[in-house]
Amino acid sequence: NNFALIMAGGVGSRFWPVSRTSFPKQFLDILGTGQSLIQTTFARFKKIVPVENIYILTNEIYRSLVQEHLPELSAHQIICEPVMRNTAPCIAYGTAKIRKINPKANIVVAPSDHLILDTENFVETINKALKASEIHDCLITLGIKPSRPDTGYGYIQYADDELLCEDLHKVKTFTEKPSLEIAETFLASGDFLWNSGIFVWSADSINTAFDKFLPDMNEIFKEGEKHYNTETEVEYIQAGFQKCVNISIDYGIMEKADNVYVMPADFGWSDLGTWASVYDLSEKDYVGNAVTNKERVIMYDSSNCMVNVPKGKMVILEGLHDYIVVESNDTLLICPRKNEQHVKQIVVDVKQKF
Ligand code: GDD
Ligand code: MG
Repeated sequence: NNFALIMAGGVGSRFWPVSRTSFPKQFLDILGTGQSLIQTTFARFKKIVPVENIYILTNEIYRSLVQEHLPELSAHQIICEPVMRNTAPCIAYGTAKIRKINPKANIVVAPSDHLILDTENFVETINKALKASEIHDCLITLGIKPSRPDTGYGYIQYADDELLCEDLHKVKTFTEKPSLEIAETFLASGDFLWNSGIFVWSADSINTAFDKFLPDMNEIFKEGEKHYNTETEVEYIQAGFQKCVNISIDYGIMEKADNVYVMPADFGWSDLGTWASVYDLSEKDYVGNAVTNKERVIMYDSSNCMVNVPKGKMVILEGLHDYIVVESNDTLLICPRKNEQHVKQIVVDVKQKF
């Protein structure tokens, strides 16, 4: 009865120039492990649900990339959206398709572009959450202990003493992407967790929540049932998606529902949001340099640099400290590590100019 929906339709602009709209973060081997993030995500979920119950939610433009990275999947396991409308519509679509196959399904929904260090712990945690979702009518999110007032996350305030079952705490408030000021107060108060963006629920519970908070959207995908896995599906979905509002599951459902529960998790999670987070997690030499494709990189008197260049590229650094050096095909970015949050704006400027 257990299914996985892996979301892989985002664009990931902070990893520019390596990450592009035509080749976003989930398809990159950003830590130099030999596997793309979507491949490691898929491998993790194979330990939890049967391969035939794993579905990828992505945009039509990434269909062939997904096929190439995950050749084990059959065509019908790659669910494609014709336009980008953020995560709520793709989850409603994926849920409706799973409900047609198995109305009693329990579903784990997860991003495709995160790092998880402790797979064993991850598998155990998800299994526990799946079991709870089978018994209780609840929307479960996995919560991570926050370490900085990052404004890119959802913040979950939970009740320490109000438990649905073991390790499942009632969520008092869910605040998606707060301002820095508010994030700082959340962090200081100590009773908040970050939303990991990994959700577990029964098909029934999430369907009920969609009916309540995004009823028009859900109607489109429930209506579509008779078309799924027939030749009229593409046409129906093409028209249906046009009518969907652009909203994430966090704003659309998680902030509003009153049956949200959080399972605190500790499996070495990072959403690899920026080059700095990759640097933090990378293996470094004794002077703090993190280098992928080391074979042809030579460094003299250089420290605390992050170098990410294509295989076979010769790079020589001399006297460089605390810099990011990233290259992909036609673009080279050299930027002090402390300014790495400027990358998002740089991408906007570059797109305007060229
Ligand atoms: N299929 C599909 N379609 N997938 C999408 C779309 C879409 O339109 N938009 C985004 N995704 C995928 C991304 O590829 C990623 O794997 C996942 O959905 C989450 O989207 P992000 O765009 O990365 O969300 P975020 O990082 O801003 O925020 C979410 O994740 C944080 C943790 O990393 C939220 O859930 C936050 O609350 C959470 O803290
Ligand atoms: Mg993200």
